[in-house]
Amino acid sequence: MKVSVVQSEPKLLDKQHNLQLHSDLINSLETDLLVLPELCTSGYVFESETQLLSIAEEAGTGESFAFFTALAERKNCSIVFGFPELESTSNARPRIFNSSALINPDGSWKVYRKTHLFNREKLFFSPGDTGFFVCEAKNKVKIGMMVCFDWQFPESARSLALQGAQLICHPSNLVLPWCQQAMKTRSLENRVFSITANRTGTEGEDQNRLTFTGASQILGTRGELLASLSITEPGVATVEINPELAENKEVTPLNNAFADRRPELYVL
Ligand code: ACM
Repeated sequence: MKVSVVQSEPKLLDKQHNLQLHSDLINSLETDLLVLPELCTSGYVFESETQLLSIAEEAGTGESFAFFTALAERKNCSIVFGFPELESTSNARPRIFNSSALINPDGSWKVYRKTHLFNREKLFFSPGDTGFFVCEAKNKVKIGMMVCFDWQFPESARSLALQGAQLICHPSNLVLPWCQQAMKTRSLENRVFSITANRTGTEGEDQNRLTFTGASQILGTRGELLASLSITEPGVATVEINPELAENKEVTPLNNAFADRRPELYVL
């Protein structure tokens, strides 16, 4: 199957612009699954909860969902994208999660809520409560989602791989320099494919100004680089993968990356 990584530079608080931007980037793409960056509908450096509330949307019914559902159907591909999720509740103070959605060509969808919030995200977002889970994308490929800073915690990718993920979809807005390298280890130690979709550009003012590091990548089950994008420019890369390769956890004839684990000796 063909899988793609999309690197973009969203505009803060301009959903219409951001939806069109991603539609343009993937307009001529032929692929089975594509991954877009974290918070790609909204931008990242919020100054207040009010700002964030103005662009957050409920899973399933929001404008971005309608947009990407139509796009997934038209392009006949699964789409993974990051968005600020407004909790669907009658409570006076709904929570907002930093979420990643999978939308399939048949309209089915799942939402993962970011477990490990990064820095000032803690001021505006609630920590995710979905935990890590595996779901099916087009061609029945078994995917797991994690969002950006989840990379820092090896338990994220390991939880997905132990549940049978063949491919980790990883929408990101990276600002620290280590993730791309660390994900090679996450893919290698778990023998899974991974797609890290990062953004480019700068956002925010003064001490809150952030520069995003681009270099989005697709990795194979040995941590090998199958595709990578520029540090500064938006772009798209597509590769052909065989997800079944992720079923093979053999390291040597006498070693298996999963069967040889000794959880009774580990401290979590
Ligand atoms: C991050 O988690 N967006 C760095």
